[in-house]
Amino acid sequence: MTQDTLNLIRPDDWHIHFRDGDMLKTVVPATASVFRRAIVMPNLVPPVTTAAAARAYRQRILDACPPGSNFQPLMTAYLTETLDPDDLAAGHAAGDLTAVKLYPAGATTNSDAGVRDIRKVDATLKRMAEIGMPLLVHGEVTDPAIDIFDREAVFIERVLKPLMDRLPDLKIVLEHITTRQAVDYVATAGDHLAATITPHHMEINRTDIFRGGIRPHLYCLPIAKREEHRQAVRAAAVSGNPRFFLGTDSAPHPVHAKEAACGCAGIYNAPGALSVYAGMFEADGALDKLEGFASLNGPKFYGLPVNEEKVTLRKTGWTVPDVVTTGGDPILPYHAGETLPWAVV
Ligand code: NCD
Ligand code: ZN
Ligand code: ZN
Repeated sequence: MTQDTLNLIRPDDWHIHFRDGDMLKTVVPATASVFRRAIVMPNLVPPVTTAAAARAYRQRILDACPPGSNFQPLMTAYLTETLDPDDLAAGHAAGDLTAVKLYPAGATTNSDAGVRDIRKVDATLKRMAEIGMPLLVHGEVTDPAIDIFDREAVFIERVLKPLMDRLPDLKIVLEHITTRQAVDYVATAGDHLAATITPHHMEINRTDIFRGGIRPHLYCLPIAKREEHRQAVRAAAVSGNPRFFLGTDSAPHPVHAKEAACGCAGIYNAPGALSVYAGMFEADGALDKLEGFASLNGPKFYGLPVNEEKVTLRKTGWTVPDVVTTGGDPILPYHAGETLPWAVV
């Protein structure tokens, strides 16, 4: 029998970019109307590096939520070599900071202020391990000699494994995984390591980026890999393994910044995210695993309560907007103009 209604505990998005200003006002409602909570990435310009800045940013996000929304932004600090561990710890204790994000300097969009030498932040990471504050990782090396398609796998060997050996008590989320190596490592590294998985990395491989021509709206970092890696990532997401959970990495950029001689990395997938995930879990015969992935595994890893409300999806079809406009600038959503099978009611 085919199923046409899905009732799920309201999900959380464990990896989102809201930006700021007009863009923030435009993109927050799509997430706040579907998800109960989201881990908000701190890679603004300048980055969010203090508890006070995170508090102020959270207020701007709340101000952009639709009336009556109870959306809860969970804030993160951007790890730099000069971050103050006392401020982090105080922000964590006060509920203003949920986690800290590691961007290797130069690895991705707005990462210039990130970490060059991970050893220089060991004292901060040690403090985080003591207070149970998770480290979220953009897991790619920045060594220009390493091929872009190998940067995640090399990061695991060169940086992540040694880090976990040095600080076995630190909770780490390897964000937006794209490789079989990441899947295999996360599945076997113990209960202090988990991973988020995006809709696009479950759906596209590197060939899709060049289908019929170059497709800048499918360019993100880490870049999509070969088909065998996509299959491994997808299998992990639908497996029911609690180490893998939902993180969209929705990362809006205006069209002019994507369709350019040197285009920005990032896919804006927030509008259709839950529908896209549902369609893939269904296609894989794993609809019974969607709630774990979307609503249970994340809170369990973060040590947060599971949401009480529910969300309903119906198989009525839902068409992703062709374009979203912010401050006069168009942004193209993932699957723009396409009709997806599942609608969030
Ligand atoms: C993200 C962005 O645009 O902020 N881009 C991306 O390609 N994923 C940054 C990130 O998550 O690496
Ligand atoms: Zn990233
Ligand atoms: Zn991201």
